[in-house]
Amino acid sequence: MDAVKKGVETEYFNDGSAFRAIDPLSINPDYLTDFSLFERYPMKKKQYRFRCLLVDSTSIPKERLIELLKAWKVVYIHKEQEQNYTAYIKENLEFILRHEDIDIKQKTNTLTELSTEVIQDVFETSFNKRLTSTKVVENVQKLVSKAIDFISSIDSLNGLANLIGYDYDTHTHSIKVGWLLATFINANKDLFSYLKNIDFSDFIVAATVAGFLHDIGKVKIPQHILNKNGKLDNKEYILMQSHTAYSVSMLFENNLPRSTMQAILYHHENEDGSGYPCGLIDNDIPLLAKICHVIDVFDALTSRRPYKEPKTPFDALKIMTESNPHLDALQKFENEVAQNVKTPVTAIVRNEPDPLLRRLREKDILEQEAKKRVKVRVKLRDQGMAHCFNADILKRFIVTINKSDSFQLSGLIL
Ligand SMILES: [Fe+2]
Repeated sequence: MDAVKKGVETEYFNDGSAFRAIDPLSINPDYLTDFSLFERYPMKKKQYRFRCLLVDSTSIPKERLIELLKAWKVVYIHKEQEQNYTAYIKENLEFILRHEDIDIKQKTNTLTELSTEVIQDVFETSFNKRLTSTKVVENVQKLVSKAIDFISSIDSLNGLANLIGYDYDTHTHSIKVGWLLATFINANKDLFSYLKNIDFSDFIVAATVAGFLHDIGKVKIPQHILNKNGKLDNKEYILMQSHTAYSVSMLFENNLPRSTMQAILYHHENEDGSGYPCGLIDNDIPLLAKICHVIDVFDALTSRRPYKEPKTPFDALKIMTESNPHLDALQKFENEVAQNVKTPVTAIVRNEPDPLLRRLREKDILEQEAKKRVKVRVKLRDQGMAHCFNADILKRFIVTINKSDSFQLSGLIL
């Protein structure tokens, strides 16, 4: 294939904006490229000369190509061929993630870029169609399968640590939750000894896919609620809670494993029964959902939101391991409400003869009750959360990520 057929010339003179720098090590000498590689020479006044080094990998003997790829520090591709390069990287992701000379930061960037693309596809497809198409979900499964050896290794946590502490973004959040699930499961295989006749590598992929897709139902939640710059009121909070049910309903026809669907549906259940959508308690919550819950909250606390600064991993986990001082107050309040059911409202307004006034009064009292609940919930936010999690899973999570040098959590491990 020659340069003319590929739509790029062999030499250019410009300011560099038409080119993208890439790492030569990302080129797999065993896999043909269909894009050209250029080198760059500085000229006067921020102008450069780009000279074609390689039209494609068939234009040079393989041994020579391997030598050159090691010798070049950086090479450039023309933006006309950027799509070819992205498709190439997707095909060769395993090669890149296994490459000993490519640093972990670059591996993380490549993986994040490709993962964001497939997750974005799922979210966009789900937004436009009633059900999520099988193809985009399969793309997530394919990508996870290629990346699984890397993301389930403790070493990769150094790369993941670079993604912590930034603005919350649903796509990156999904990637981090999937990635941490893979690492956790691989480091705690003993928890899953009950899985008979199931291929463990298939299981890790399925669990990671659950992490990538767990919040997909959020496409059904109005944007003004998702992006609200402040606390959610009662109605908004209830709407927000429906995202877990939306997620499973949207993925229903994709034939995902039962464990994946359970993790997605129950990732907001709390150990003490105060979670949603079902208020499950303790052993009724599926194991994968418990793990997903710990990781989901860890990532939420360590991300920046419009109304809060990100917590450090240490501070986030400290909150997650501590019990909440306001929990008793909430319990007392909930008990009072449960015991009285309708009496507080009817008792106060029953002597009001005017039906319209009676209805207005009722509405007013109900709103006051709702406000009280929000007030207590606001107090609970970001306070001790031990009641939400399974103590063993939380402890194992701390031990797992502390195996990487990027997390300094020794003070948290008893
Ligand atoms: Fe969620």
